[in-house]
Amino acid sequence: MMVLRLLLHLALLRLGTTQPSVQGHHFHRPVLAQPSFFDPNSPLEVQEIIQIPNNGSAPLLVDVQVAVLNVFDVDILRYTVSSMLLLRLSWLDTRLAWNGSVYPRHMVTRPWDALWTPGLIIQEALWVDWQEQSPRAQVDQDGHVELQLALTTETNCDFELLHFPRDQSDCTLSFHALSNTAMQLEFQAHVVNEIVSVKREYVVRDLTARVPPQRRVPCFQVTLRLQNTALKTIIALLVPGEALLLADVCGGLLPLQATERTAYKVTLLLGYLVFHSSLVDGLPSSSSCNPLLIYYFVILLLLLFISTMETVLLTGLLARSHLGAKSSLRPAPSGEQQDPGNPGPNPEEVPRGVRGSWRSWAEAADHTFFLVYVTGVVCCQFAFAGFWMWTTCKSDPAPGKAVPHGGQPKM
Ligand SMILES: *[C@@H]1O[C@H](CO)[C@@H](O)[C@H](O)[C@H]1NC(C)=O
Ligand SMILES: *[C@@H]1O[C@H](CO)[C@@H](O)[C@H](O)[C@H]1NC(C)=O
Repeated sequence: MMVLRLLLHLALLRLGTTQPSVQGHHFHRPVLAQPSFFDPNSPLEVQEIIQIPNNGSAPLLVDVQVAVLNVFDVDILRYTVSSMLLLRLSWLDTRLAWNGSVYPRHMVTRPWDALWTPGLIIQEALWVDWQEQSPRAQVDQDGHVELQLALTTETNCDFELLHFPRDQSDCTLSFHALSNTAMQLEFQAHVVNEIVSVKREYVVRDLTARVPPQRRVPCFQVTLRLQNTALKTIIALLVPGEALLLADVCGGLLPLQATERTAYKVTLLLGYLVFHSSLVDGLPSSSSCNPLLIYYFVILLLLLFISTMETVLLTGLLARSHLGAKSSLRPAPSGEQQDPGNPGPNPEEVPRGVRGSWRSWAEAADHTFFLVYVTGVVCCQFAFAGFWMWTTCKSDPAPGKAVPHGGQPKM
């Protein structure tokens, strides 16, 4: 009876002081019609009712159901995830129960600040937007309280991007109730996947909720397993890279003497450099476990560079030998007119011998290089594929856990 009076009294207090919504008026009207319940109690009891319900020596058990409504933005460059969650908190507060035969109502709605509710923070959050500023709790006749909180949050997540764009990471959201101790409060968490939108790069493969043991502050954690399913990176990065490499290999089939060959290779290298710089901007980086793709593209750059250098060097040597052969001819005195009837040594004939040997040497070298290069390119591809399959990487331990004087905050 006392509890019921208190409840009604509180409801009246709120009607007088805070913004009375339409729903509020509707709810409070029967109370006003029964002034006998109105008991001008001291505000001490209001103070009492916003204290955490006592459960003897055991902590109060708060059941949390986390519904993940959406994971709408996964930013691998900033290492953040944005998500929308709905928390359904329920617990038992017997001080709020009432006698059903006196006040025949199964459920009442109370503003959240008129009773005790756990105050939650998210440890990894950059920002949290609680969608309702003053949520209302449902209280039933026996004192079961249910509070629903919808929130949008952007949280930090250590993505494991070694196998980007085929990566999978676990992102954790740790909810702490800072204003209570673990002696007073204990969470029991479940999680459900209520994501309905399907157009996305990263899909949620798994959801788990757990209560970490031995914390001074009551805590529960929700872990989202995110998997990258995007084809975009493969199409936009791997295919052009492979195409450039293939074009470069084919460039080796052009004859060494053709001046277009140098131009062709240099153009490819330039094109690749432009592609490379935009690609490096588009890939995330970290202190450990960088994406293997970065190494792959650097190897590609080196291969293109070596092949261009080879072409430039051999063409340069050929041109030099050509010039040398010409200049070795030039000292021949030009004072005597050659008798057209008596053909002297043809200026083209001697160098042709020299140039011919140079040319055959350079062509042989070019041919060998071509074979070595093709083998190298193929081996690189296989080596990289093997590396991709078998490499694993373990990130450095978090500074908060590794440093001897740091360690897990004593919460
Ligand atoms: C009180 O603690 C006991 C033991 O942990 C638990 O079974 C019970 O549900 C708790 N009661 C409330 C109201 O949380
Ligand atoms: C509820 O109120 C009725 C009528 O006043 C009373 O007879 C009954 O014992 C009360 N029940 C409880 C559980 O207090």
